[in-house]
Amino acid sequence: MRISIVGGGYVGLVSATCFADLGHSVILIDIDEDKVEAINCGMSPIYERGLMELLSAHVGRNLLATTGYEDLVSTDLTLICVGTPPLPDGSADLSMIESASTLIGNSLEDKEKYHVVAVKSTVSPGTTQNLVMPTVLKHSDKSASKIGFVMNPEFLREGLAVQDFMKPDRIVIGSSDELAGDTVESAYRGIDAPIVRTGLIAAEMIKYASNAFLATKISFSNEIGNVCKKLGIDVYEVMKGVGLDHRITPYFLNAGVGFGGSCFQKDVSALIHFAERMEVTPVLLRSVIEVNEQQPMKIVEILLKNIEYINGKRVAVLGLAFKNDTDDVRESRAVPVIKELVGRGALVAAYDPKANESMREILPEIEYCKSASQALTDADACLVLTEWPEFGDLDKEFELMRSRVIIEGRRILSCKDAEGICW
Ligand code: UGA
Repeated sequence: MRISIVGGGYVGLVSATCFADLGHSVILIDIDEDKVEAINCGMSPIYERGLMELLSAHVGRNLLATTGYEDLVSTDLTLICVGTPPLPDGSADLSMIESASTLIGNSLEDKEKYHVVAVKSTVSPGTTQNLVMPTVLKHSDKSASKIGFVMNPEFLREGLAVQDFMKPDRIVIGSSDELAGDTVESAYRGIDAPIVRTGLIAAEMIKYASNAFLATKISFSNEIGNVCKKLGIDVYEVMKGVGLDHRITPYFLNAGVGFGGSCFQKDVSALIHFAERMEVTPVLLRSVIEVNEQQPMKIVEILLKNIEYINGKRVAVLGLAFKNDTDDVRESRAVPVIKELVGRGALVAAYDPKANESMREILPEIEYCKSASQALTDADACLVLTEWPEFGDLDKEFELMRSRVIIEGRRILSCKDAEGICW
């Protein structure tokens, strides 16, 4: 099959590379010339495990990146993978979806054969039907019998995106008609996973509900963890006992400093906004966000119980990325923690194996260290905010501290005297 993908961000690039690996001929369209050039040289603009190898195996053979829409007409299926960033009111900005739909429509004007347009970007329920479909049909001057529409959400985790694409828990295909859904289903041939066929709006809702549920599990564990902390018991011991119930599962029950990343906060906020517009009060979803906003302050509270005045004190912050194995600091819980420390006059010495530079762009005023040892040297306290495996090996390095106050916001250390945020 010939597939065109609009948007060379993390979802578009991973999808393009993996569809090429499944044997399809793929064109990746992105307006960023530098990115297109890098991809065509086999260089991945993002770090994603296994991506570089797959990219260099297919680029120049059955994968080509380009800035123009000219070749789209020669493909059978177009996937929209552009960003839907949050607007100030929490709703998703759909302007890139609209402009991609316009350009796709223009490109299909002269096409005689049936074509399928599938949305992979996370969009609010109704967007494919009420925005993408009419825009593409208007600009292509075609009837709905000539172009089929699909909503095919992605469930890729950063860092594990290639693995998640190739071995998904499920593939969700919401379609406007049977043939459009069949076309997208055949693009995934070779992947062994349950296929869930739905209508367009249900597929959009499945994506939002999945992320909202995962975020809810985390905020739930954090709230239980806050009670466990008061009781002097270990939330990990409690959640182990809870998660073994097959109706609950042990996954996404790790309590800590809260969830970060570009998706959970954005998607839960968009769902809250959407529910309110539908005149449904999103009581639970609002609380999920509230718990997540309060959680970073819990670790500062514990620090203040150990050191009353942190003004002028050196605080080592280990971990800046929103999770390990990435340099992404979007919505990282390290940001509110560091801002609070700086506001209280602490001297923050930060270290992350990958994310020092991306955090420097947001918070240039703090000290960035080349190693955990450097950050810990003469520190009055240490806060661990990302679950990097290398932090689990830290031992003698803590002896470099001026006073041994070690607080974990993620369960990763092996030293016995660290205090946990919820344990
Ligand atoms: C998340 C979802 O897991 C993907 O399925 C989804 O496709 C993606 O969003 C998206 O919508 O694009 P991702 O943002 O890469 O993926 O990150 P996760 O691995 O889900 O972690 C998110 C945050 O939750 C991290 O800060 C992590 O530390 C935290 N977390 C995770 C916990 O605090 N506890 C847990 O038990 C699990």
